[in-house]
Amino acid sequence: KMLKLMKLRSASAFLSRSYGSGSVPQRKVAVLGAAGGIGQPLGLLMKLNPLVSDLSLYDIAGTPGVAADVSHVNTRSAVAGYVGEDQLPRALEGCDLVIIPAGVPRKPGMTRDDLFNINAGIVKSLCSAIAKYCPHAIVNMISNPVNSTVPIAAEVFKKAGTYDENKLFGVTTLDVVRARTFYAGKAKVPVEEVNVPVVGGHAGITILPLFSQVTPKANLSDEDIQALTKRTQDGGTEVVEAKAGKGSATLSMAYAGALFADACLKGLNGVPDVVECSFVQSSITELPFFASKVKLGKNGVEEVLGLGTMSDYEKRGLESLIPELKGSIEKGIQFAS
Ligand code: NAD
Ligand code: LMR
Repeated sequence: KMLKLMKLRSASAFLSRSYGSGSVPQRKVAVLGAAGGIGQPLGLLMKLNPLVSDLSLYDIAGTPGVAADVSHVNTRSAVAGYVGEDQLPRALEGCDLVIIPAGVPRKPGMTRDDLFNINAGIVKSLCSAIAKYCPHAIVNMISNPVNSTVPIAAEVFKKAGTYDENKLFGVTTLDVVRARTFYAGKAKVPVEEVNVPVVGGHAGITILPLFSQVTPKANLSDEDIQALTKRTQDGGTEVVEAKAGKGSATLSMAYAGALFADACLKGLNGVPDVVECSFVQSSITELPFFASKVKLGKNGVEEVLGLGTMSDYEKRGLESLIPELKGSIEKGIQFAS
């Protein structure tokens, strides 16, 4: 009980230090696909986030139960469940942030691009609704293939006349989470201290961790770095195979999605120096979308940061990922137009 009290006190002390007493902004967050493998734990983690005042849980089925369950958790936000397209407008109205983990996951032997045919349509229709009912919301796209679903979302918003390139994010945080974990294990450094940028996209070789920039530094061999790079690139497949037909990463993804959403909310609330990697509209390479470090602010992207100094191995990785990422981006754009 004491511990709980201390935690509550420190959370409120943090909030009043950050925003002044009594002035924590109201923030409505929606999760679309909230009854799914990612959606359920992500809904719970957003309910635990003191920056959220209203949590809107939407899916085509199952959300009344998930919402009733999550709503009993004694934290700040109000929770409402919405089910079926008729209720989508109410789920979205007034949203500051919309997180999209709706769509089918991979089974062993599939690539993320094999999900395109089903998920592209789902993302397109959800983004049309966002353009209509909460056109100024920040969008966090989790649905795969992220390398194509983000360009699809951008096209839908452009057509609707609501596109704001600073508010559309492909969530690549899980790649960063994995790179940190795998590196800490290999380098024998405390995992909570590790930071490493992961750039490019979110599929296979388009995922490019920049271990030459990792902190804290350790003396790993080139072979170790190559093995860590490959493991980070194949992290999703590692989980898909271990789940053996029962889907892909859900719990680690919910954690990563909640981390990224929290960073977006902090940015919106004016917390300075919030930087995360994300797949965004970009001009740091020849491609129209690219994942890199991004500074988050009151209007979403404040600045897309450059790639920094890269090793020759990373430069070669960058060169070889460009054609695949380009193809996936073009496929998305073509689908939406
Ligand atoms: P899941 O099948 O467990 O859940 C998906 C949910 O989406 C289901 O509840 C389903 O009813 C819902 N849904 C389907 N169509 C919908 C629609 N039109 N509107 C609202 N909801 C709809 O799948 P999951 O494991 O939660 O994965 C979801 C997606 O996230 C997949 O595409 C997966 O590949 C992707 N994913 C991305 C990352 C990443 O790093 N970006 C990580 C893991 C998974
Ligand atoms: C992941 O990286 O875990 C997700 O993109 C899901 C997948 O299909 O691998």
